[in-house]
Amino acid sequence: MISRKFTAIAAGLTLTLGLAACGGEGAGSGTNNDTADKDPSELVVGVAMPTQTSERWIADGDAVKSGLENAGYQVDLQFADDDIPTQQEQIDQMVTKGVDALIIASIDGTALSTQLDAAGAANIPVIAYDRLINGNENVDFYVTFDNENVGVQQATSLLVGLGLMNEDGSEGDAEGPFNVELFAGSPDDNNATFFFNGAMKTLQPYIDDETLVVQSGQSEFGAVATQRWSQDEAQKRMENLLTSTYNSGDKVDGVLSPFDGISRGIISALEGAGYATDEMPVITGQDAEIASVKLINDGVQFATIFKDTRKLADQAVDAASTFLEGSIPEPNDTTSYNNGVKDVPSFLLESDIVYKDNIAALLVDSGYYTQAQVDAGQ
Ligand code: BGC
Repeated sequence: MISRKFTAIAAGLTLTLGLAACGGEGAGSGTNNDTADKDPSELVVGVAMPTQTSERWIADGDAVKSGLENAGYQVDLQFADDDIPTQQEQIDQMVTKGVDALIIASIDGTALSTQLDAAGAANIPVIAYDRLINGNENVDFYVTFDNENVGVQQATSLLVGLGLMNEDGSEGDAEGPFNVELFAGSPDDNNATFFFNGAMKTLQPYIDDETLVVQSGQSEFGAVATQRWSQDEAQKRMENLLTSTYNSGDKVDGVLSPFDGISRGIISALEGAGYATDEMPVITGQDAEIASVKLINDGVQFATIFKDTRKLADQAVDAASTFLEGSIPEPNDTTSYNNGVKDVPSFLLESDIVYKDNIAALLVDSGYYTQAQVDAGQ
């Protein structure tokens, strides 16, 4: 292990170079001279997570907290019940209490400018976690997945489920036409448009040649978005679609869903309208939530996207400690994520499509879930 002293010297050097390289950025440029001289146990990292209603954010919060604690830091972890004022207040308090770094998964990516201004003024490095924070220069680093590719994978799994494509990407035997409906995520979450655009890029040729038919005619982001990623909202919209568009015996063949909670809302609506569990349309998802993994195993939901939150947490912890040691973390993407003020240096991770036949390989063998959890759905 590299000694603390060496790290401090290296950090000092990098700091000098780093400041020279990005001279003029001023407060919030991401390095904090003071922290490099301190032991991690004297430093506190504030971690702001959006909600505990979805299990992925609980897993993210736990993984970030334990990663930081293992590196020796103190952690102030807060969840905000998907309520914007609560999250603003939590971050305000973290800044007031003088945390040394912030890791933030925002609820509304445009609602934190006051908090980020304060963090910048206090020279607290800010890492946007999974969701980009928009409209402020004091976002020093962004750790996330390749969000557009997540959307491509969601659309790909829809095409595979319908038989239009094989899992290896080759053309499938089915011909269509198929009735599909589209759902997108929350309009205030920057990721939602990335997922939807990635998916639509993949689906559009099939829509153009009428292999896929969006019977409701609702295919613009604004019409298909789901505020706060709400399962109930999704269920209501699906119920409305079924009564308004599929009341004369037409069946829905596929539903593009951007998140497992939304998928479960869609499934409830379909069940309510008389679809048996073994005649569900092809339904996609995201996050590999355990309840949905069981539904995939049982053949009710078709697929989900696995984003390994352990790896994302590791990246966030690495980025935070790098800043706290006085250096700048290394991005692997500097062009994809502009937050309206600047291109935010980002580290993007890859995701995987989970089908029934690779649940064991992706989720059980990697230790993300046990087989017993998959069987029980919890
Ligand atoms: C995340 C997704 C998640 C969604 C709803 C997005 O920002 O990237 O993984 O499904 O929020 O929580």
